[in-house]
Amino acid sequence: MWLDRLDIRNVRNLAEVSLKLSAKFNIISGANGSGKTSLLESIYLLSCGKSFRTHRFSNIPTQDECWMGVYAKLSGKDVRSIPIGLEYRDRKNIFKADGNRLKKASELAAYLPVVVIHQESQRVFTQSPKYRRAFLDWGVFHVEQCFLSTWQNFNRSLKQRNAELSQRNQLSSIDHWNIELSKSANLIDVHRRQYLDKFVLLFNHFVNKLLVINGEIKVDYRRGWSEKEDYLDLLRASLEKDRIMGYTQRGPHRADVSFKINGTPLHEYVSRGQQKLLVCSLYIAQAALYSQIADRGSIFLMDDLTAELDAKHVANLLSVLDELDTQVFVTTPDLKLLDTGLLLESKTFHVERGVVSEVL
Ligand SMILES: Nc1ncnc2c1ncn2[C@@H]1O[C@H](COP(=O)(O)OP(=O)(O)O)[C@@H](O)[C@H]1O
Ligand SMILES: [Mg+2]
Repeated sequence: MWLDRLDIRNVRNLAEVSLKLSAKFNIISGANGSGKTSLLESIYLLSCGKSFRTHRFSNIPTQDECWMGVYAKLSGKDVRSIPIGLEYRDRKNIFKADGNRLKKASELAAYLPVVVIHQESQRVFTQSPKYRRAFLDWGVFHVEQCFLSTWQNFNRSLKQRNAELSQRNQLSSIDHWNIELSKSANLIDVHRRQYLDKFVLLFNHFVNKLLVINGEIKVDYRRGWSEKEDYLDLLRASLEKDRIMGYTQRGPHRADVSFKINGTPLHEYVSRGQQKLLVCSLYIAQAALYSQIADRGSIFLMDDLTAELDAKHVANLLSVLDELDTQVFVTTPDLKLLDTGLLLESKTFHVERGVVSEVL
């Protein structure tokens, strides 16, 4: 599926934007502050009801406006078009797809799988494990139908167990939650492991296409509790310790994935430009794996593609993105930095003070 039409109302400085898009490659150019990132942010909002720039939704609508909306028509080969939309009014989100109001953002996410690379994406390597879990779980969520409900069960049981711990209840009343937790924890672990096994092959493939590094990348998954221990036994045995801390200390909510080159954390080993190409390899592999497993494309957003990269690497990255079975959106401050002549099928848009027009 791809976004065929996109309408944006009141997202930051984009007061009213209506676009007919390319199913393959969309290039968005414009000076700093013109609204390029806001355009990608709008697509991302539509895909999952979240922003990659802020947790505060109230900051996103255009100043002095009290609402915003993003609407699109999704098209696909041999399927009818589906209208989808997101509105934010009175501090509430409204999601719609195919004429129906949806209860949750996750239902919208199933229609529109979006992979994004933005200014902060390098934190997937440099910062806390929550970013690597978010990366991993995006992949599992989109390829494994039952993952969302397993994850929701896990969270519900975790909240209940933590509440029981703080009330200093006896093992007999907590054990029900230990059993529930361990069932979903083991499933989450299996799904994550299966996903990573497939992912690592593609990740290495794209690393080899995009850059040269001196050494082998090792991807290590830690599930959040010892490989040697049964999770139910661990929950039972750690009751007192967990009680003192006031929460469940081990489990899939503490999982992590480490990326190392010759034993050194990847981000300490490579240059900034190389790190950016590794981030690209990571997310391109994720989009490619989604296409392989789901047999449909995702939407790939890449903000400021040219930043920190030389001309040769920019050209190489463009051709790798062009070969992907996804609809691509990239932004650049200057069209001269991108040689788009070899792209199979593309449209170019120019943004000026929130007004977007196609470059013909
Ligand atoms: N809520 C808002 N209302 C109006 N303008 C905003 C809002 N939030 C940010 N802006 C402005 O939107 C403009 C576009 O930002 P951005 O999309 O990040 O530009 P670019 O990516 O092209 O550099 C900036 O000038 C910014 O100050
Ligand atoms: Mg920007």
